Amino acid sequence: MLDQKTIDIIKSTVPVLEKHGETITTRFYQLMFGNHPELLNIFNHANQKQGRQQKALAGTVYAAAMYIDNLEAILPVVKQIAHKHRSLGIKPEHYPIVGKHLLLAIKDVLGDAATDEIINAWAEAYNVIADAFISVEAEMYDEATNQDGGWDGFRSFIVDRKVVESDVITSFYLKPADHKGISSFIPGQYISIKLEIEGEKYTHIRQYSLSDSPGKDYYRMSVKREAGTANPDGMVSNFLHDGVNEGDILNISAPAGDFVLDMEKTNPVVLLSGGVGLTPMLSMLKTVVEMQPGRNVTFVHAAANSNVHALRDEVEELAALDHVKSYIFYDAPTEEDRVNNRFDVEGFITRDWLNDKVAIGEADFYFCGPVPFMKAMNRSLKELGVNEDRIHFEFFGPKGSLED
Ligand SMILES: Cc1cc2nc3c(=O)[nH]c(=O)nc-3n(C[C@H](O)[C@H](O)[C@H](O)COP(=O)(O)OP(=O)(O)OC[C@H]3O[C@@H](n4cnc5c(N)ncnc54)[C@H](O)[C@@H]3O)c2cc1C
Ligand code: HEM
Repeated sequence: MLDQKTIDIIKSTVPVLEKHGETITTRFYQLMFGNHPELLNIFNHANQKQGRQQKALAGTVYAAAMYIDNLEAILPVVKQIAHKHRSLGIKPEHYPIVGKHLLLAIKDVLGDAATDEIINAWAEAYNVIADAFISVEAEMYDEATNQDGGWDGFRSFIVDRKVVESDVITSFYLKPADHKGISSFIPGQYISIKLEIEGEKYTHIRQYSLSDSPGKDYYRMSVKREAGTANPDGMVSNFLHDGVNEGDILNISAPAGDFVLDMEKTNPVVLLSGGVGLTPMLSMLKTVVEMQPGRNVTFVHAAANSNVHALRDEVEELAALDHVKSYIFYDAPTEEDRVNNRFDVEGFITRDWLNDKVAIGEADFYFCGPVPFMKAMNRSLKELGVNEDRIHFEFFGPKGSLED
């Protein structure tokens, strides 16, 4: 454990480091990738370019440092990150590399203000934080490997079926190449896939939520093609759409993630999705129907119009059940959508609509979609008095804030 003096130094320097937050972390990544280019096989380059990951990693180190004498208090945050790390294959030997370069970056940016005393205190604190992550991750590796059908690291899966679901979303049904069993998962969880793309120097890893219910002999992921407008096209999603076909092999790690449907509860559940954010929601919907028959579930999906609306038939089939309700929102319906009544509401999901149509006082709410969509859902639910413990959401990228 750290002595009181070290703890005091850490807590008093956190605000200074936060002030220089992005400068330090940008420098940190430059230094680390300079010395360890092999880590570019693990990190998401687009997140780097957009600065999203910079904020996430070092920001969390500082946040953890504030709780350095009570890391238990931030265990849920540690677990959420640890799921991602386990899914990516981050190992104990990676931690000293990050620690070393973070300290180098702090020294670089703060110059003389970073005295030996401060740097030594941070070295000690980083080790305590790293140990907390390493021990949580060790348990997760153990579980992922030793459960029925489990495995360690990345395992080969064959694309058994590739199904176009809309103009932008395509599903991939993945079966293990060794024809052995596969581990179950909790609806809401994701897999990581690791791809070698011709002409690319590094491997690329991305996460995809499982879009079917558990208990099958395959995993299904449904992938949106990320077309860049001002920016380059998304690397992996376009490669999956254009370059991966039935019979091809994909390497994936065992299901992970803490955004999961709580099946201990029997209260109503409301699943809100925007665009491709419907993937974990559909898995939850199907699972409620299969495993909690009678539990009231409302599935609300927002899309631009029917051209980009995926997996509609699967939802419609379930919506015929008494305890399932489904609503479709289109914000840019086509003429045909209007003529054929292919949606329930034109526009966005609003606070007043939610107040009118769903069990605001009792339900648990799960949502996923573009960040502005998630911010709007979060704001609406909070304004309607829904407590945080009934609000659950997933970011399709590094976790950010929904508050601003
Ligand atoms: C837990 C989780 C679950 C997910 N589930 C799903 C799912 O079920 N379905 C799904 O489709 N996706 C899902 N995602 C998102 C998925 O992991 C990928 O992020 C997504 O497919 C885009 O990857 P890509 O390689 O195609 O794009 P990337 O190459 O990673 O690019 C991402 C974005 O950055 C932009 N960009 C690229 N290069 C630059 C640059 N130099 N400067 C500025 N911008 C740039 C691109 O235009 C694109 O919009 C999930 C993500 C997470 C974290
Ligand atoms: C105590 C040290 C660490 C902290 C506090 C930390 C924190 C984080 C956070 C907050 C995220 C974003 C999680 C999310 O998706 O919401 C993340 C993701 C990630 N971390 Fe760590 N991390 C640490 C150590 C490491 C190490 C040692 C490595 C490997 C060298 C690593 C590699 C990654 C990668 C590759 C991602 C995925 C994000 C991406 O590529 O965009 N992390 N980490």
